[in-house]
Amino acid sequence: MGGRTQPIAVAGFDEWRAAARELIVRRVPPESVQWTSPGGGGDLFGAQPGPAPEPGTAEQPAAPQTTRAAEGVAAASVPAASTPPAPFGLRVPRALMELLQTAACYRAGDRWSFLYKVLWRWQQGQQEVMSMADEDGNRLQTMARAVRREEHDMHAYLRFRERPAGEGAPRFVAWFEPAHDVLPQVAQHFAARMGRATWLIATPEATVLWDGAALHFTGPLARGAADIEDAGEALWLTYYRSIFNPARLNPDVMHSHVRTRFWKNMPEAALVPDMVSQAAAGARRVGQASAVGRRSGTTIPIAPEKAQPERQQPHTLDECRRCELWERATQAVPGEGAKKARIMLVGEQPGDQEDLQGHPFVGPAGALLDRALAQAGVDRSTVYVTNAVKHFKWEPRGKRRLHKTPAQKEILACHYWLEGELEQVGPRVVVALGSTALKAVLEDSHAALKDYMDQPVQHAGRWVVATYHPAYVLRVPGADEKARALAAMVEALRAAAKIAYE
Ligand code: URA
Repeated sequence: MGGRTQPIAVAGFDEWRAAARELIVRRVPPESVQWTSPGGGGDLFGAQPGPAPEPGTAEQPAAPQTTRAAEGVAAASVPAASTPPAPFGLRVPRALMELLQTAACYRAGDRWSFLYKVLWRWQQGQQEVMSMADEDGNRLQTMARAVRREEHDMHAYLRFRERPAGEGAPRFVAWFEPAHDVLPQVAQHFAARMGRATWLIATPEATVLWDGAALHFTGPLARGAADIEDAGEALWLTYYRSIFNPARLNPDVMHSHVRTRFWKNMPEAALVPDMVSQAAAGARRVGQASAVGRRSGTTIPIAPEKAQPERQQPHTLDECRRCELWERATQAVPGEGAKKARIMLVGEQPGDQEDLQGHPFVGPAGALLDRALAQAGVDRSTVYVTNAVKHFKWEPRGKRRLHKTPAQKEILACHYWLEGELEQVGPRVVVALGSTALKAVLEDSHAALKDYMDQPVQHAGRWVVATYHPAYVLRVPGADEKARALAAMVEALRAAAKIAYE
């Protein structure tokens, strides 16, 4: 322990994981390890151009000086050859391992030492190291989020160009300049979506070829390798011009949605300056007039304070930027439970524990909810449990993160997801747990819990039962009042079950 600094070279996450596992088992503290990458560049492919090194060649990174672990940090404790048996095993939750793996794709010179520090702290019992409220946790989450965003951007903004027929494989090529090491996972994404069509993606650091059956990674190619004119591109540009509506042009929004560094590699970007100037020269008014003219019916004016901004329609919760809550949350927490449940329980938003674990109602409020469900004779595995808002809204109070009630605009922004869940699950009864849930479920920002507690109401073709939020039952002062609130909750759950199964 302590003493001399151990130099360890790793080229990728799997090597880091094996080395880190051994170091942890041998109790080597972070300050006693010096992590390096082959070529010194700190990226997952090494800094040198050329084909990927074959296992066993001189280019393979040096193994750590201890026995190599068989598989995975989480596997078990393996003592180093020269040390006594390790006094403790190493268990790492899947959520932390996934975070470490994602953050490992973030380009930072100190990534391996930072990840080891996080693992070390976890092993020392400092579980807050995964939390946004912790300095290292915050950095870890921020790195992982930047990597996920980069992956998403690469899926969205990479443009394949078709090579002339008869020139052999690959049929499509693309050039992209990712800010982080996301090429392997992005390659998997395209391999799964493009069938047997062959393609190649070149980046400044590495290249991947899909031959229709397998992926092959090599070092970087020259930038010009992806410069190909294609007929498909001409068609796409014509289409892009035809769907462009100058009345809706907002250059600031356009640039904030598609980060500027991607524009140069997107063929449609070349059309934009021209279209922007057309819009400024009056096409905007004309476009608007014709679009409005096509609409039928009466014009209903909307008060400015009620007008909602146009929001993105993301495909996955991870991508959701419909309001600002994603920025401070560890992760979005989706609903979960029986796929076609007859009863859906809707809470307010994830709490501290839910935010860390990624599942709804797993903290103290969840324990109370489980108690109420058991008393009502409802098996939790038969219901679907979700929240009106999918990201944890909090404010710092010392080292703690204190829950903050979501604002109406956040409830509205998140209704998009609740609607999707209602449609997919199709419950007969929705139980609104507390006031935020009730407002979301009834789509009425003025709905008050006390007005709906007495009896179920019908809304949008299903029954809605309103009751207290479990956190209210936990914090209401006085044993009698607590018992009364719990009994009311149990009663509401019984009523929901009766409607659902009668
Ligand atoms: N409170 C909620 O409303 N939902 C949760 O998932 C946890 C606490």
